[in-house]
Amino acid sequence: MDYLIKDITNLVTCKSNSGKPKEGSGQSEIVLIKNGNVFIEGEKISFAGTGTELKTYLKDYKGKYEVLEGKNRTVMPGFIDSHTHLVFAGSRSDEYEMRIKGSSYEEIAKAGGGIASTVNAVRNATPEELFRLSEKRLGNFLFYGTTTLEAKSGYGLDLKNEIKMLEVINKLNLKNRYGINIIPTFLGAHSVPKDMSKRDYIDLICFEMIPQIAKKKLAKFIDVFCEKNYFDAAETESILSLGAKFGLIPRVHTDQFNSIGGVDAAIRANAISVDHLEVLKKRDIRKLSGKNIIATLLPGTSYFLNIPYQPARELIGSNVPVALATDFNPGSCMTENLQIIMSLASLKLKMSAEEIINAVTYNAACSLFLQNSYGSIEKGKYADLLIFDFPSYKDLLYHFAVNGLEFVFKKGKKSEVERF
Ligand code: NIG
Ligand code: FE
Repeated sequence: MDYLIKDITNLVTCKSNSGKPKEGSGQSEIVLIKNGNVFIEGEKISFAGTGTELKTYLKDYKGKYEVLEGKNRTVMPGFIDSHTHLVFAGSRSDEYEMRIKGSSYEEIAKAGGGIASTVNAVRNATPEELFRLSEKRLGNFLFYGTTTLEAKSGYGLDLKNEIKMLEVINKLNLKNRYGINIIPTFLGAHSVPKDMSKRDYIDLICFEMIPQIAKKKLAKFIDVFCEKNYFDAAETESILSLGAKFGLIPRVHTDQFNSIGGVDAAIRANAISVDHLEVLKKRDIRKLSGKNIIATLLPGTSYFLNIPYQPARELIGSNVPVALATDFNPGSCMTENLQIIMSLASLKLKMSAEEIINAVTYNAACSLFLQNSYGSIEKGKYADLLIFDFPSYKDLLYHFAVNGLEFVFKKGKKSEVERF
Protein backbone atom coordinates (compact mmCIF):
# COMPACT_ATOMS: atom_id res chain seq x y z
CA MET A 1 0.00 0.00 0.00
CA ASP A 2 1.19 3.54 -0.78
CA TYR A 3 0.47 6.46 1.54
CA LEU A 4 0.25 10.22 1.50
CA ILE A 5 0.59 11.97 4.84
CA LYS A 6 -0.70 15.41 4.00
CA ASP A 7 -0.55 18.85 5.48
CA ILE A 8 1.70 17.90 8.38
CA THR A 9 1.86 20.80 10.81
CA ASN A 10 5.49 19.94 11.79
CA LEU A 11 7.37 17.73 9.38
CA VAL A 12 10.75 17.17 11.03
CA THR A 13 12.98 15.72 8.32
CA CYS A 14 16.41 15.70 10.09
CA LYS A 15 17.88 15.90 6.61
CA SER A 16 21.61 16.34 6.17
CA ASN A 17 23.55 17.20 3.06
CA SER A 18 26.94 16.13 4.34
CA GLY A 19 26.36 12.49 5.28
CA LYS A 20 28.41 13.25 8.43
CA PRO A 21 27.20 13.30 12.04
CA LYS A 22 25.72 16.62 13.15
CA GLU A 23 27.88 18.48 15.67
CA GLY A 24 28.05 21.86 17.40
CA SER A 25 25.34 24.20 16.10
CA GLY A 26 24.60 21.58 13.40
CA GLN A 27 23.26 19.31 16.16
CA SER A 28 20.15 21.56 16.15
CA GLU A 29 19.46 21.44 12.42
CA ILE A 30 16.27 19.43 12.10
CA VAL A 31 15.22 20.88 8.71
CA LEU A 32 11.60 21.47 9.61
CA ILE A 33 8.93 21.80 6.90
CA LYS A 34 5.76 23.46 8.12
CA ASN A 35 2.59 22.08 6.54
CA GLY A 36 4.70 19.45 4.84
CA ASN A 37 3.75 16.27 3.01
CA VAL A 38 5.28 12.82 2.77
CA PHE A 39 4.57 10.22 0.13
CA ILE A 40 5.44 6.58 0.73
CA GLU A 41 5.73 4.11 -2.15
CA GLY A 42 6.21 0.56 -0.95
CA GLU A 43 9.07 0.43 1.55
CA LYS A 44 10.56 3.81 0.68
CA ILE A 45 9.89 7.51 0.95
CA SER A 46 9.32 8.83 -2.56
CA PHE A 47 8.56 12.44 -1.69
CA ALA A 48 8.91 14.89 1.22
CA GLY A 49 8.14 18.54 0.71
CA THR A 50 5.68 21.42 0.52
CA GLY A 51 2.12 21.39 -0.85
CA THR A 52 3.18 23.06 -4.11
CA GLU A 53 5.94 20.52 -4.66
CA LEU A 54 3.45 17.75 -3.89
CA LYS A 55 1.15 18.84 -6.72
CA THR A 56 4.00 18.46 -9.20
CA TYR A 57 4.93 15.09 -7.73
CA LEU A 58 1.37 13.74 -7.96
CA LYS A 59 1.09 14.63 -11.67
CA ASP A 60 3.35 11.70 -12.52
CA TYR A 61 1.94 9.28 -9.96
CA LYS A 62 -0.47 6.70 -11.34
CA GLY A 63 -1.23 4.23 -8.52
CA LYS A 64 -3.65 4.14 -5.56
CA TYR A 65 -2.81 5.47 -2.14
CA GLU A 66 -4.27 6.00 1.31
CA VAL A 67 -4.36 9.51 2.72
CA LEU A 68 -3.47 10.24 6.33
CA GLU A 69 -4.22 13.60 7.92
CA GLY A 70 -1.17 15.50 9.14
CA LYS A 71 -2.94 18.57 10.48
CA ASN A 72 -2.06 19.28 14.11
CA ARG A 73 0.44 16.47 13.94
CA THR A 74 4.20 16.09 14.03
CA VAL A 75 5.99 13.60 11.80
CA MET A 76 9.58 12.64 12.41
CA PRO A 77 11.99 9.84 11.47
CA GLY A 78 11.65 6.52 13.30
CA PHE A 79 13.88 6.54 16.38
CA ILE A 80 17.16 4.64 16.28
CA ASP A 81 18.37 3.21 19.58
CA SER A 82 22.10 2.83 19.05
CA HIS A 83 23.00 1.14 22.35
CA THR A 84 20.98 -1.75 23.77
CA HIS A 85 21.50 -5.09 25.46
CA LEU A 86 18.28 -6.46 23.97
CA VAL A 87 18.99 -10.15 24.43
CA PHE A 88 19.04 -11.51 27.95
CA ALA A 89 17.17 -13.90 30.22
CA GLY A 90 16.20 -13.63 33.86
CA SER A 91 15.42 -10.61 35.98
CA ARG A 92 17.49 -8.44 38.32
CA SER A 93 14.54 -6.88 40.13
CA ASP A 94 16.04 -8.10 43.43
CA GLU A 95 19.17 -6.04 42.72
CA TYR A 96 17.02 -3.08 41.88
CA GLU A 97 15.50 -3.32 45.37
CA MET A 98 18.95 -3.69 46.96
CA ARG A 99 20.02 -0.52 45.22
CA ILE A 100 16.95 1.33 46.43
CA LYS A 101 17.95 0.26 49.95
CA GLY A 102 21.44 1.69 49.46
CA SER A 103 23.75 -0.85 47.77
CA SER A 104 25.63 0.42 44.74
CA TYR A 105 25.87 -1.22 41.30
CA GLU A 106 29.56 -1.90 41.97
CA GLU A 107 28.91 -3.42 45.41
CA ILE A 108 26.27 -5.74 43.96
CA ALA A 109 28.63 -6.79 41.16
CA LYS A 110 31.43 -7.50 43.69
CA ALA A 111 29.06 -9.67 45.73
CA GLY A 112 28.49 -11.89 42.66
CA GLY A 113 25.38 -10.19 41.28
CA GLY A 114 25.32 -7.79 38.36
CA ILE A 115 26.42 -8.93 34.92
CA ALA A 116 27.42 -12.38 36.31
CA SER A 117 23.85 -13.08 37.34
CA THR A 118 22.53 -12.39 33.83
CA VAL A 119 25.37 -14.50 32.39
CA ASN A 120 24.06 -17.47 34.40
CA ALA A 121 20.53 -16.92 33.16
CA VAL A 122 21.64 -16.56 29.52
CA ARG A 123 23.83 -19.64 29.63
CA ASN A 124 20.86 -21.62 30.94
CA ALA A 125 18.44 -20.30 28.33
CA THR A 126 17.86 -21.95 24.95
CA PRO A 127 18.19 -19.86 21.76
CA GLU A 128 14.42 -20.22 21.33
CA GLU A 129 13.77 -18.75 24.79
CA LEU A 130 16.15 -15.85 24.15
CA PHE A 131 14.47 -15.23 20.80
CA ARG A 132 10.99 -15.23 22.32
CA LEU A 133 11.92 -12.93 25.23
CA SER A 134 13.73 -10.50 22.97
CA GLU A 135 11.04 -10.40 20.29
CA LYS A 136 8.49 -9.50 22.95
CA ARG A 137 10.71 -6.58 24.03
CA LEU A 138 10.81 -5.37 20.41
CA GLY A 139 7.10 -4.68 20.71
CA ASN A 140 7.86 -2.28 23.57
CA PHE A 141 10.58 -0.56 21.54
CA LEU A 142 8.23 -0.04 18.60
CA PHE A 143 5.40 1.19 20.84
CA TYR A 144 7.56 4.19 21.82
CA GLY A 145 8.83 4.82 18.29
CA THR A 146 12.06 2.84 17.92
CA THR A 147 12.25 1.32 14.44
CA THR A 148 15.94 0.32 14.37
CA LEU A 149 18.21 -0.75 17.19
CA GLU A 150 21.67 -1.97 17.97
CA ALA A 151 21.96 -5.06 20.19
CA LYS A 152 25.00 -6.42 21.99
CA SER A 153 26.14 -9.85 23.08
CA GLY A 154 28.10 -9.88 26.34
CA TYR A 155 26.07 -12.14 28.63
CA GLY A 156 27.58 -15.38 27.30
CA LEU A 157 31.26 -14.82 28.13
CA ASP A 158 32.29 -18.09 26.52
CA LEU A 159 32.55 -19.01 22.87
CA LYS A 160 29.38 -21.07 22.70
CA ASN A 161 27.16 -18.60 24.51
CA GLU A 162 28.51 -15.44 22.88
CA ILE A 163 27.81 -17.07 19.51
CA LYS A 164 24.40 -18.19 20.76
CA MET A 165 23.50 -14.58 21.64
CA LEU A 166 24.76 -13.22 18.32
CA GLU A 167 22.88 -15.88 16.39
CA VAL A 168 19.69 -14.89 18.20
CA ILE A 169 20.32 -11.23 17.32
CA ASN A 170 20.94 -12.10 13.67
CA LYS A 171 17.86 -14.31 13.52
CA LEU A 172 15.74 -11.55 15.02
CA ASN A 173 17.10 -9.11 12.47
CA LEU A 174 16.13 -11.44 9.64
CA LYS A 175 12.64 -11.90 10.95
CA ASN A 176 10.67 -10.45 13.84
CA ARG A 177 7.00 -9.68 14.24
CA TYR A 178 7.61 -5.92 13.98
CA GLY A 179 10.08 -5.74 11.10
CA ILE A 180 12.56 -3.83 13.30
CA ASN A 181 16.18 -3.84 12.08
CA ILE A 182 18.68 -5.03 14.64
CA ILE A 183 22.39 -4.35 14.26
CA PRO A 184 24.65 -6.83 16.11
CA THR A 185 27.63 -5.88 18.29
CA PHE A 186 30.07 -8.37 19.80
CA LEU A 187 30.64 -7.46 23.47
CA GLY A 188 32.60 -10.50 24.65
CA ALA A 189 34.71 -8.09 26.74
CA HIS A 190 31.76 -7.13 28.94
CA SER A 191 33.17 -8.84 32.04
CA VAL A 192 35.54 -11.67 32.94
CA PRO A 193 33.79 -15.01 33.56
CA LYS A 194 34.13 -16.34 37.11
CA ASP A 195 36.04 -19.51 36.25
CA MET A 196 38.84 -17.89 34.23
CA SER A 197 41.78 -15.53 34.63
CA LYS A 198 41.48 -12.25 32.78
CA ARG A 199 44.57 -13.07 30.69
CA ASP A 200 43.08 -16.37 29.55
CA TYR A 201 39.73 -14.77 28.81
CA ILE A 202 41.30 -12.01 26.70
CA ASP A 203 43.18 -14.72 24.77
CA LEU A 204 39.90 -16.53 24.22
CA ILE A 205 38.30 -13.32 22.94
CA CYS A 206 41.23 -12.53 20.64
CA PHE A 207 42.17 -15.93 19.31
CA GLU A 208 38.83 -17.72 19.18
CA MET A 209 35.82 -15.46 19.57
CA ILE A 210 36.80 -12.60 17.25
CA PRO A 211 38.04 -14.82 14.39
CA GLN A 212 34.99 -17.10 14.53
CA ILE A 213 32.47 -14.29 14.87
CA ALA A 214 34.07 -12.42 11.98
CA LYS A 215 34.20 -15.53 9.82
CA LYS A 216 30.53 -16.27 10.44
CA LYS A 217 29.70 -12.57 9.89
CA LEU A 218 27.75 -12.48 13.14
CA ALA A 219 28.55 -8.91 14.17
CA LYS A 220 29.09 -5.50 12.59
CA PHE A 221 30.64 -3.86 15.67
CA ILE A 222 32.89 -4.77 18.58
CA ASP A 223 32.53 -3.23 22.03
CA VAL A 224 34.46 -3.38 25.33
CA PHE A 225 33.46 -2.34 28.88
CA CYS A 226 36.47 -0.15 29.79
CA GLU A 227 36.11 0.17 33.57
CA LYS A 228 37.88 -0.55 36.86
CA ASN A 229 37.56 -4.28 37.65
CA TYR A 230 36.57 -5.00 34.04
CA PHE A 231 38.97 -4.07 31.18
CA ASP A 232 41.66 -1.38 31.42
CA ALA A 233 42.53 1.06 28.65
CA ALA A 234 45.41 -1.01 27.21
CA GLU A 235 43.27 -4.17 27.16
CA THR A 236 40.40 -2.22 25.61
CA GLU A 237 42.59 -0.82 22.87
CA SER A 238 44.13 -4.16 21.99
CA ILE A 239 40.78 -6.00 21.86
CA LEU A 240 39.17 -3.25 19.77
CA SER A 241 42.12 -2.98 17.42
CA LEU A 242 42.20 -6.70 16.86
CA GLY A 243 38.45 -6.68 16.21
CA ALA A 244 38.98 -3.90 13.67
CA LYS A 245 41.56 -6.04 11.85
CA PHE A 246 38.80 -8.63 11.47
CA GLY A 247 36.39 -6.04 10.10
CA LEU A 248 34.47 -5.32 13.32
CA ILE A 249 33.99 -1.60 13.92
CA PRO A 250 34.94 -0.46 17.45
CA ARG A 251 32.63 1.26 19.94
CA VAL A 252 33.31 1.49 23.69
CA HIS A 253 31.56 1.57 27.07
CA THR A 254 33.70 4.06 28.96
CA ASP A 255 33.76 6.61 31.78
CA GLN A 256 30.62 5.20 33.40
CA PHE A 257 31.96 5.00 36.97
CA ASN A 258 35.67 5.79 36.61
CA SER A 259 37.72 7.62 34.04
CA ILE A 260 40.58 5.23 33.26
CA GLY A 261 41.72 6.18 29.78
CA GLY A 262 38.91 4.68 27.71
CA VAL A 263 38.61 7.78 25.54
CA ASP A 264 42.29 7.56 24.56
CA ALA A 265 41.82 3.87 23.79
CA ALA A 266 38.76 4.66 21.67
CA ILE A 267 40.60 7.35 19.71
CA ARG A 268 43.57 5.10 19.10
CA ALA A 269 41.37 2.20 18.02
CA ASN A 270 39.40 4.46 15.68
CA ALA A 271 36.08 3.85 17.40
CA ILE A 272 32.91 5.24 15.85
CA SER A 273 31.29 5.86 19.24
CA VAL A 274 32.17 6.36 22.90
CA ASP A 275 29.23 5.43 25.10
CA HIS A 276 28.15 6.31 28.69
CA LEU A 277 30.54 9.19 29.69
CA GLU A 278 28.89 9.87 33.05
CA VAL A 279 32.24 10.88 34.61
CA LEU A 280 33.92 12.22 31.47
CA LYS A 281 36.80 14.62 32.20
CA LYS A 282 37.13 18.03 30.53
CA ARG A 283 40.45 17.06 28.96
CA ASP A 284 38.81 14.05 27.33
CA ILE A 285 36.07 16.26 25.90
CA ARG A 286 38.81 18.35 24.30
CA LYS A 287 40.43 15.22 22.91
CA LEU A 288 37.16 14.11 21.32
CA SER A 289 36.69 17.42 19.58
CA GLY A 290 37.12 17.13 15.81
CA LYS A 291 37.71 13.37 15.89
CA ASN A 292 34.49 12.27 14.16
CA ILE A 293 33.66 10.07 17.13
CA ILE A 294 30.07 10.17 18.29
CA ALA A 295 29.36 10.53 22.02
CA THR A 296 26.46 8.20 22.79
CA LEU A 297 24.87 9.40 26.00
CA LEU A 298 22.72 7.13 28.15
CA PRO A 299 20.90 9.29 30.71
CA GLY A 300 18.52 6.44 31.52
CA THR A 301 21.44 4.71 33.22
CA SER A 302 22.18 7.80 35.29
CA TYR A 303 18.55 7.86 36.35
CA PHE A 304 18.26 4.15 37.10
CA LEU A 305 21.60 3.87 38.95
CA ASN A 306 21.48 7.31 40.48
CA ILE A 307 24.89 8.30 39.12
CA PRO A 308 25.98 11.57 37.45
CA TYR A 309 24.45 12.74 34.18
CA GLN A 310 26.56 13.19 31.05
CA PRO A 311 28.10 16.58 30.08
CA ALA A 312 26.05 17.02 26.91
CA ARG A 313 26.37 20.82 26.78
CA GLU A 314 30.15 20.70 26.98
CA LEU A 315 30.29 17.98 24.33
CA ILE A 316 28.05 19.89 21.93
CA GLY A 317 29.97 23.09 22.71
CA SER A 318 33.19 21.29 21.76
CA ASN A 319 31.76 20.10 18.44
CA VAL A 320 31.41 16.47 19.47
CA PRO A 321 28.36 14.90 17.78
CA VAL A 322 25.92 13.50 20.31
CA ALA A 323 23.59 10.50 20.06
CA LEU A 324 21.20 9.33 22.77
CA ALA A 325 20.25 5.73 23.51
CA THR A 326 18.47 3.69 26.16
CA ASP A 327 21.26 1.23 27.14
CA PHE A 328 18.30 -1.11 27.69
CA ASN A 329 19.59 -3.92 29.95
CA PRO A 330 18.45 -5.77 33.09
CA GLY A 331 20.98 -4.18 35.47
CA SER A 332 21.51 -0.53 34.71
CA CYS A 333 18.56 0.64 32.59
CA MET A 334 15.48 -1.52 32.36
CA THR A 335 13.46 0.42 29.82
CA GLU A 336 12.83 0.17 26.09
CA ASN A 337 11.28 3.64 26.07
CA LEU A 338 13.49 6.07 24.17
CA GLN A 339 10.99 8.88 24.81
CA ILE A 340 11.85 8.78 28.52
CA ILE A 341 15.52 9.07 27.58
CA MET A 342 14.66 12.12 25.47
CA SER A 343 12.85 13.66 28.41
CA LEU A 344 15.89 13.09 30.65
CA ALA A 345 18.15 14.58 27.98
CA SER A 346 15.98 17.67 28.02
CA LEU A 347 15.66 18.14 31.77
CA LYS A 348 18.96 16.71 32.98
CA LEU A 349 21.39 17.15 30.08
CA LYS A 350 19.87 20.50 29.10
CA MET A 351 19.73 19.55 25.44
CA SER A 352 17.28 21.39 23.19
CA ALA A 353 14.40 19.58 21.49
CA GLU A 354 16.18 19.91 18.15
CA GLU A 355 19.47 18.51 19.50
CA ILE A 356 17.63 15.62 21.10
CA ILE A 357 15.72 14.72 17.95
CA ASN A 358 18.91 14.57 15.87
CA ALA A 359 20.51 12.52 18.64
CA VAL A 360 17.91 9.73 18.36
CA THR A 361 17.57 9.79 14.58
CA TYR A 362 20.25 11.04 12.23
CA ASN A 363 23.27 10.93 14.58
CA ALA A 364 22.24 7.54 15.93
CA ALA A 365 22.04 6.32 12.32
CA CYS A 366 25.55 7.68 11.71
CA SER A 367 26.90 5.78 14.71
CA LEU A 368 25.60 2.57 13.09
CA PHE A 369 26.69 3.60 9.56
CA LEU A 370 23.06 3.57 8.43
CA GLN A 371 22.64 7.22 7.45
CA ASN A 372 22.33 6.47 3.75
CA SER A 373 19.12 4.50 4.26
CA TYR A 374 17.73 5.53 7.67
CA GLY A 375 17.66 8.39 10.15
CA SER A 376 15.93 11.13 8.15
CA ILE A 377 12.83 11.70 6.04
CA GLU A 378 14.18 12.07 2.54
CA LYS A 379 13.33 10.68 -0.86
CA GLY A 380 14.95 7.29 -1.36
CA LYS A 381 15.30 6.40 2.32
CA TYR A 382 13.28 3.69 4.00
CA ALA A 383 9.85 4.83 5.14
CA ASP A 384 10.55 4.56 8.87
CA LEU A 385 8.59 7.39 10.39
CA LEU A 386 6.44 8.38 13.32
CA ILE A 387 3.18 10.34 13.41
CA PHE A 388 2.64 12.09 16.75
CA ASP A 389 -0.63 13.57 17.84
CA PHE A 390 1.16 16.85 18.68
CA PRO A 391 1.13 20.05 16.60
CA SER A 392 4.75 20.82 17.57
CA TYR A 393 7.77 18.57 17.91
CA LYS A 394 8.50 20.47 21.13
CA ASP A 395 5.41 18.93 22.72
CA LEU A 396 7.17 15.59 22.74
CA LEU A 397 9.37 16.91 25.56
CA TYR A 398 6.88 19.23 27.20
CA HIS A 399 4.10 16.64 27.51
CA PHE A 400 6.35 14.08 29.15
CA ALA A 401 5.85 10.41 29.99
CA VAL A 402 2.72 10.15 27.84
CA ASN A 403 3.06 8.40 24.52
CA GLY A 404 1.71 10.78 21.88
CA LEU A 405 2.50 8.38 19.08
CA GLU A 406 -0.43 7.66 16.76
CA PHE A 407 1.10 5.69 13.89
CA VAL A 408 4.46 4.07 13.26
CA PHE A 409 5.68 3.29 9.77
CA LYS A 410 8.38 0.67 9.48
CA LYS A 411 9.65 0.18 5.93
CA GLY A 412 6.35 1.52 4.65
CA LYS A 413 4.25 -0.78 6.83
CA LYS A 414 1.82 1.14 9.02
CA SER A 415 0.96 0.19 12.61
CA GLU A 416 -1.52 2.02 14.73
CA VAL A 417 -0.54 2.67 18.33
CA GLU A 418 -3.49 1.38 20.33
CA ARG A 419 -5.30 3.76 22.69
CA PHE A 420 -8.39 3.64 24.79
O1 NIG B 1 25.90 -0.51 29.63
N1 NIG B 1 28.16 -1.01 31.89
C1 NIG B 1 28.19 -2.14 31.49
N2 NIG B 1 27.24 -2.77 30.85
C2 NIG B 1 25.86 -2.43 30.92
C3 NIG B 1 25.22 -2.98 32.13
C4 NIG B 1 25.10 -4.41 32.03
C5 NIG B 1 24.42 -5.03 33.18
O2 NIG B 1 24.40 -4.52 34.33
O3 NIG B 1 23.87 -6.11 32.94
C6 NIG B 1 25.66 -0.95 30.75
O4 NIG B 1 25.28 -0.22 31.67
FE1 FE C 1 25.57 -0.77 27.76
